[in-house]
Formats: sequence, structure tokens, C-alpha cells
Amino acid sequence: MKSRELELLLLETERVFKNGWRQDAINMSDYLDRIGSGFILLNPDPLDFDYIPESMVGRESIQTTLAGKFHSIAHPNGSANVVITGPVGSGKTLLARSFCRDIEHHLRNKRPLRSVHINCRNATTNVRVAQRIVQSLDPGHPDRGLSMGELLSSLRKLLRNSGRHLIVVLDEVDHLLRKSGNDLIYQLLRIDEDQDGSGTLSLILISQEQVLDVLENAVISRFGHTNHIPIPPYDVEGLLAIARQRAEAALNPRSWDEEILMLIATSAAPSGDARQVIELLGASVEHAESDGKKLLMPEHVQTKAKDVPQVMPEDVLDDLSGHQMLVLLGICRRLRKAEFMTSKDVASMYAVVCEEYEAKPRSHTTVWKFLKQIEELDIIATRVDTVGEGRGRTTHISMPHALPVDVAARIEGRVLRKLKRK
Ligand SMILES: Nc1ncnc2c1ncn2[C@@H]1O[C@H](COP(=O)(O)OP(=O)(O)OP(=O)(O)O)[C@@H](O)[C@H]1O
Ligand SMILES: [Mg+2]
Repeated sequence: MKSRELELLLLETERVFKNGWRQDAINMSDYLDRIGSGFILLNPDPLDFDYIPESMVGRESIQTTLAGKFHSIAHPNGSANVVITGPVGSGKTLLARSFCRDIEHHLRNKRPLRSVHINCRNATTNVRVAQRIVQSLDPGHPDRGLSMGELLSSLRKLLRNSGRHLIVVLDEVDHLLRKSGNDLIYQLLRIDEDQDGSGTLSLILISQEQVLDVLENAVISRFGHTNHIPIPPYDVEGLLAIARQRAEAALNPRSWDEEILMLIATSAAPSGDARQVIELLGASVEHAESDGKKLLMPEHVQTKAKDVPQVMPEDVLDDLSGHQMLVLLGICRRLRKAEFMTSKDVASMYAVVCEEYEAKPRSHTTVWKFLKQIEELDIIATRVDTVGEGRGRTTHISMPHALPVDVAARIEGRVLRKLKRK
């Protein structure tokens, strides 16, 4: 018994001693536990803007149009020149990058191809861009002191010796055009003149602006007016598909569902910018993980959505009437727990709130009008779905840019005053 007690005491002391250390060690690393836990994030790469996904989703018809312009490229003398324009985040860079990757692979046994993608934001002079093109074929090529003429003749020589066709992508080309004009583009278009070969080089120009208008006639006539591919911004379905692709590639499948992705897509929809969806998904994951959650919840999206444009201004609530506030309060209470609600839910939540504030509910059509006004102020977003075979239409309401719990608190602080004023 005595020895048992001693043993326990020793164990105890040992534990105290070791505990001191071990406990410390646990405390020290506790705050790191969530990093790499894999509850939500399994692979961060697909949430990076520079990540090139295996496939571009929802842009099949534009990809086909681009491929159509390059129909002759499988032939020994075939080449193409294309201008791609579209708003920010509409997938222009990805379109060109994935096309070059895929076409090189597709023609690997038919015609050796090579591509170089140059962002003209970082290379705004003709000589700098020409250097980059030459160095993509010959990495050891001297990068100083050569004139444009010398660089172009190096390029001709390299292309002839390698026997490869080169696709040059000049991304954000408006920067080059503004600073240095058309000259390099003109020279690239006539690279084969006075030479034996033809079709040694293809050109893809990319810009947010309609650059064809600023090109000189000599360039336009070589380019052809029909070689312009305009890309529209993404709609909510397009954004949802991109969010889904990234979630599938980056996240634990048990940590998200379609509804949460729809909330993210709805939030980014006003801009139509794919980058915003990816950023919002990443930020929501970061928020959920730092909260120690295993699931992405509406609040993780909503708080992060506040950081992207279309933030709800502080004083926007002051413009609402007492009953508009009550409608919004009802909405907030439901959207604390759900990503979306229907207009029927709005009516029933409003009825409950009216009872609580002892206010006589307004008619159904008035409430509907309030809802539209609240939407116009960008406090809520709506999406109409057709259910069944076009029989009924359901409006889904969400609050992608603000945290419902915050908005509710702000309303509760001022609604009584507003109601009394009436
Ligand atoms: N259809 C798509 N499928 C998958 N990812 C996409 C798609 N469209 C865009 N993305 C992704 O969205 C981000 C923005 O796209 P991208 O860089 O191609 O836009 P952009 O039109 O070039 O924008 P900017 O005008 O700012 O240069 C990138 O991370 C890209 O991988
Ligand atoms: Mg781009």
C-alpha cells in the first residue's frame, strides 16, 4: 500500500513536472491546431488566382469559337490572329492559357507548337516584349543592348531553326499600345515577309478594352475585323459553376453544399467577376477554419462579403420607414440560420415581428413593394427560380453583403423611434 502511494506520488510529481512542460507545449501550439486539420481546406492551390484548372467551366461555346479561328493551325503554313476582349475577371487570361496548353498537346504529333504568354502590364515597351518573346525560345539570349531589328531577326532565326510554330499571347495589351503604339504588333504580323516560310507565328491580343479601335489601319487590315472574340461577364450560374469547381478541388466534400456556393455566387453576381467568387470562397474558408468550424456557414460568407465591393453603407437603414425596417428585421432573423428564404417566409416572419412590436401589419402588396425597395438599396439580393414545368416562380432572398445579425441589431436600435414618428 505504501509503495503504491509512493508510486502514485512519484507519478503525480512526474506528471506535474512533465505536465508543466507538456502543458506548455500544448498551450503553445493550441492556436495552431486548426492549421492543416483538414476539416475544410484540403488543398489551397485551387483557391489561388494563378492556378490553372484542368478545364474552363461554362465557356465551351467561346472556347469553340476560339478554336474555330485556329482551324488552319494543324497545317504546316497555318496561323491565326485573334483579339479577345471582355470585362475584368471574365476569364480572358484563362481562355488563352488553357487554349495554348490544350492545342500544344492536341497537335503534339502533327505540328510542333510553342506558346509564350506575356503580360504587357509588366512589359510596356516594344523592345521589352520582343526580348521576352525571344527569351522564351532561347532562355540564354542576351537581354540588353539589342535593337528591335536585331531582336526580330533573332526571332526569325530561332523559329526557322526550331521548326516550331509560335503562338504569342499579348495579355493586357492596352498597356503596350498606350505606351509604345502598334509597331511591334505590326512587325510580328509580317514576320514571314521576305522569308521562305509562312505561318510561323500566331498572335492573340487580350484586353479589357475594345483595342481594335485603337489599332492602326495597317494592323487592322492584317488582323481582320472578324477575328474579334468579345467575352461577356459571368452570370450567377457561371459564377456558381466556378465556385463549385474550386470547392470540389480544394475543400473537404463534407464542409460545403450547393446553397452556400449559391450565396457566394449571388454575392459576386453584380460584378460578374470570377476572381471575386474565388476570393470569397477562400476568405469564407479562412473565417470558418479560424472559428474552429467544420462547415462553411452563411455567416462566414456574409462577413467576408462585406470586404468586397457593394458594401452596405452605414446610413442606408436611415432611409427605411418603420414598417420597411420590420420587414427587414424579419428577413434578418431567418437569414441568421439559412442562406436563402422565400417571399412567403418574409410574410410570415414579418407577421411575427409586427406582433412583437404591436404594429398593424401592412398589406401583402405593400410588403412586396418594401421588399423591392430593400433590394434596390442592395441590402438584400433576390434570385427567381422557376419551379416545376414553368408553373410557379419562387423568389429566393439572401443577404450576401452583410451579416444579418448586425443588421438586425442596427434595426432594433432604431425601429421604435421610426414607428412612433408615424
Ligand atoms: N470559366 C472558368 N472556369 C474556371 N475558372 C475560371 C473561369 N473563368 C475564370 N476563372 C478563374 O477566375 C480568375 C479570373 O479569370 P481571368 O484571370 O482569366 O480573368 P481576366 O478576364 O483575364 O481578368 P482581367 O481582365 O482582370 O485580366 C482566374 O483565377 C481564373 O482561373
Ligand atoms: Mg487577365
